[in-house]
Amino acid sequence: MSILVTGATGGFGTYALAALKDLISQDEIFALARSEEKAASLKEKGFSVKIATYDDPKSLEQAFHGIDRLLFVSSSEIGSRQPQHKNVIDAAKKAGISYIAYTSFGKANTSTSPLAQDHAYTEKLILESGIDHTFLRNNWYLENEGGIITAALKTGKFVHAGGEGKAGWGLKREFAELAARAVSGKFDFPSILEVGGPLLTYQELAEALENVSGKKLEITSTDADTASQFLQDSAGFPKEAAEYFASAQEIVKSGSLAVEPDDMEKYLGKPLSSTEVALKELFIK
Ligand SMILES: NC(=O)c1ccc[n+]([C@@H]2O[C@H](COP(=O)([O-])OP(=O)(O)OC[C@H]3O[C@@H](n4cnc5c(N)ncnc54)[C@H](OP(=O)(O)O)[C@@H]3O)[C@@H](O)[C@H]2O)c1
Repeated sequence: MSILVTGATGGFGTYALAALKDLISQDEIFALARSEEKAASLKEKGFSVKIATYDDPKSLEQAFHGIDRLLFVSSSEIGSRQPQHKNVIDAAKKAGISYIAYTSFGKANTSTSPLAQDHAYTEKLILESGIDHTFLRNNWYLENEGGIITAALKTGKFVHAGGEGKAGWGLKREFAELAARAVSGKFDFPSILEVGGPLLTYQELAEALENVSGKKLEITSTDADTASQFLQDSAGFPKEAAEYFASAQEIVKSGSLAVEPDDMEKYLGKPLSSTEVALKELFIK
């Protein structure tokens, strides 16, 4: 059997490859990168590499030749994803790939979030291709809150624009481990899986941060402009980064991430790390 992981040079792909190596022989694992240069560290780690970009159908067809199962990590290039993802699914079909695990978005097919549109489109393409699949509808990486959390630890102030919205935060590493188990073919996976941690508000996330850091935080709920300005003025974030973090908080506020997860323990083979343990892993040295 041969398994290809796309986005292999990114955060999710890196974690997924490491987890896959623990599940199957490394001879069966292939990693997709955009260039030989970017693939160098993957080769050093002993992975076989295929070179292609989502923008080039021919390169994808060549890369997918001989591959049985695909972990398709969604493109990070918002705005170009629909044509890119179409290229991937078309090439997968041509290459006779038998299974796709695709990193999607919570309730992608019914969500009203603008972020869900590309994922709904891609899920539909996969359904139409007739290829067996699992839509891994990943909730929110805890890493997305790096701005607000590092600022809170530095200043004692947790300033957010998430209102009462809830998200099912989890470690990117664990979402990727789940994806590795899905694509490994060693476990039964459903065709749709809502992936995430327990649903929490920012207030609850801040309280969990207080517990693990031992710091009392001043928790403020505000609008996105104020949250962004706080990150710039008090924590020294560049404008672009501050706006990115604040806009992510607005997504939580919209309620589109308040999606109850399926049974994570069943599919991960262990419970997801608790929010406290996850916060510790990422932010408490
Ligand atoms: N659930 C969430 O909280 C959340 C948040 C943010 C993003 N996401 C989604 O999750 C995905 C994985 O996250 P991540 O943290 O691993 O992102 P990342 O570190 O930015 O990695 C993205 C990967 O996709 C590759 N890629 C981008 N455009 C490509 C193209 N045109 N052709 C081939 N490969 C391409 C990148 O290759 P290079 O190394 O060559 O750039 C990289 O390997 C993202 O791409 C995004 O769709 C989810």
